Amino acid sequence: MNMFEAIFSRKSIRSFLQEKIEWDVISDILNFANSLPMLIDGIAVEFKLISNIESNQGFHGPFNVKAPYYLSLSSEVKDDYLINAGYLMQQLNLYITSKGLGACFLGAAHPGKAVKSMMKYNYVYSLAFGKSSEPLYRSSADAKRLPEKDVIVYKEDVMPDIKQILLAARLAPSSMNSQPWRFVVYKNRIHIFTKKNAFLTGVLSHSKMFDMGVMLANLLLAAEELWVEISLTKSDSIKNKQFHKNDYVMTILIG
Ligand SMILES: Cc1cc2nc3c(=O)[nH]c(=O)nc-3n(C[C@H](O)[C@H](O)[C@H](O)COP(=O)(O)O)c2cc1C
Repeated sequence: MNMFEAIFSRKSIRSFLQEKIEWDVISDILNFANSLPMLIDGIAVEFKLISNIESNQGFHGPFNVKAPYYLSLSSEVKDDYLINAGYLMQQLNLYITSKGLGACFLGAAHPGKAVKSMMKYNYVYSLAFGKSSEPLYRSSADAKRLPEKDVIVYKEDVMPDIKQILLAARLAPSSMNSQPWRFVVYKNRIHIFTKKNAFLTGVLSHSKMFDMGVMLANLLLAAEELWVEISLTKSDSIKNKQFHKNDYVMTILIG
């Protein structure tokens, strides 16, 4: 299975075998993490592997998932650093899934103070991972996602490849499955918005932009797989407009 296929068949895995993973597999995952290009240039990040196998390094909080390993990301805090962080971590999520291991993002649980104090930058999120006896895959039709009509407005007819790219984006995991992304689609561009919610506080408002980065990882990977040339931009005219229900994030130019 490759990462593109994993987009359509992955699911969050929350039950793990407390078993070691071979060191060459761990080292391959770390090399992959450290070779990922940033979505936003000029943001420094650091990945840290936390192993609960060799010694219990501690992970705490509600909704904790007990896993043999966690990969934690710390990042410099700059414009769009959460989008960048989500973009990196979702690629790791897909990479780990494609290696036949289970994974689950952790927003509500944190590494202990001792581990956090060893991180170079601000702690962002972690990904729990390991071997699991649960089925790792499901059909994309079984993923609980909002219907297409609730998140995409098609202003023009588009090619099937663009629909496939948008399906990949819609299948992205998000904090509490909130799916904050909204799309306005033309033949040659996709405007991306995030849903406003006055009641979105705490965990969800922090994770919203991370979720947008997770979704962008799926979108960009699918475009690459389908040989659709795209580039990212921000439209000043849309940026300066006020929208009732959504905030503008960016535009994907096609071709
Ligand atoms: C930023 C983020 C934080 C998350 N935090 C948690 C968490 O703390 N505990 C948990 O069990 N699942 C967590 N999840 C997993 C989501 O609940 C899950 O992705 C969503 O319900 C969709 O289900 P699926 O991943 O199986 O498609 C998180 C997901 C994301 C993207």
